[in-house]
Amino acid sequence: MRILVTGGTGYIGSHTVLTLLEAGHDVVVVDNLANSSQEALLRVGELAGREAAFVKADITDEQALDAVFDEHSPEAVIHFAGLKAVGESVTIPLDYYYNNVAGTIALLRSMDRHDVRSIVFSSSATVYGEHNPYPYVEKMEIGAMNPYGRTKEQIEDILSDLGASDSRWHIALLRYFNPVGAHPSGRIGEDPQGIPNNLMPFIAQVAVGRREKLMVFGGDYETPDGTCQRDFIHVVDLAEGHAAALRYLEDHAGVFRWNLGSGQGTSVLEMLRAFEAAVGSPIPFEIVARRAGDLPAFWADPSSALADLGWSTTRTVAQMCEDHWRWQKNNPMGYATA
Ligand code: NAD
Ligand code: WQD
Repeated sequence: MRILVTGGTGYIGSHTVLTLLEAGHDVVVVDNLANSSQEALLRVGELAGREAAFVKADITDEQALDAVFDEHSPEAVIHFAGLKAVGESVTIPLDYYYNNVAGTIALLRSMDRHDVRSIVFSSSATVYGEHNPYPYVEKMEIGAMNPYGRTKEQIEDILSDLGASDSRWHIALLRYFNPVGAHPSGRIGEDPQGIPNNLMPFIAQVAVGRREKLMVFGGDYETPDGTCQRDFIHVVDLAEGHAAALRYLEDHAGVFRWNLGSGQGTSVLEMLRAFEAAVGSPIPFEIVARRAGDLPAFWADPSSALADLGWSTTRTVAQMCEDHWRWQKNNPMGYATA
């Protein structure tokens, strides 16, 4: 297939482009490089032995998108492009709604004009909000707790309405849990700008000496070790989930929702210990106050993805840490060292 990947130079996008190229698909990436480097795509090309096309463009720019559809004739879209920092979304909500929601509308209008009606969308476990019991199941009522999460919820609503309006659409809403890790080559990985918001890149930057110690946000939760539990998923498992969803959409029209997670909770301290094992030395940390908005624990019920897509995670927490560490050790400053 010919596949348009928006946000394909980013963390999850770059790993997915590699999986797609390896599966024999042709790929064109659209990214404005707001949070990524084109170097990621060059390395993906080296690993795959063939390249994805790249167009630097913003998804809010319908004319630029039309030109991509005219030139590359993609048959399906995987839509990663978006802003994703929860805290920042509270500060600049308009930027988040415009970029994520208006950007998606522009993309869908351009797709429709070009008779391309298959899309896999990056949603998030964050849409389950604070009132659902875990493990989360796709049929639960959703209700995000912050502007970032609400952009995901709104886009899910838009895509659901679109699918209901016209039976020619094939739509997958993939709710990712906590993506971590890197390609085992150590050539591509997560490269956050500034201070990492998320646990794993923060631990990795402490381990490589870029930061002094990990602040563990809260040690007094009602969980086995007092720290929060999350469902971490290896980014290559996640990439493979996208390929499986695309295959499913080839012969299924409609709107489908799948959790992409392992179904297992791992605590912050367990993750720290697993990372220490990968590094082979202790990682300094301090338990500090809780972070506003954090839920004590949640994980996926991933059984729908297994039943429908034949997909489940295969990589362990140890592999997540080993692969993330290989990437960080070989690229201490991320792609900037290239
Ligand atoms: P990322 O920031 O590494 O990748 C997103 C990419 O989109 C970046 O390359 C960025 O430059 C690009 N982009 C942003 N706005 C754009 C625009 N208007 N036009 C063109 N390109 C644009 O993030 P990621 O972790 O790879 O996440 C990919 C998607 O998955 C996002 O939609 C994110 O919300 C979603 N998601 C991520 C996580 C996570 O924890 N990483 C969890 C759940 C969902
Ligand atoms: C995990 C745990 C923190 C950093 C976020 C988004 C969610 C989704 C995935 C996009 C929590 C603790 C973290 C640190 C810490 N993204 N922590 N010290 O909050 O589960 O989910 O990313 O859709 O929408 O909210 O992930 O990695 O930020 O935190 O102790 O320096 O690690 O308190 O318990 P989270 P996270």
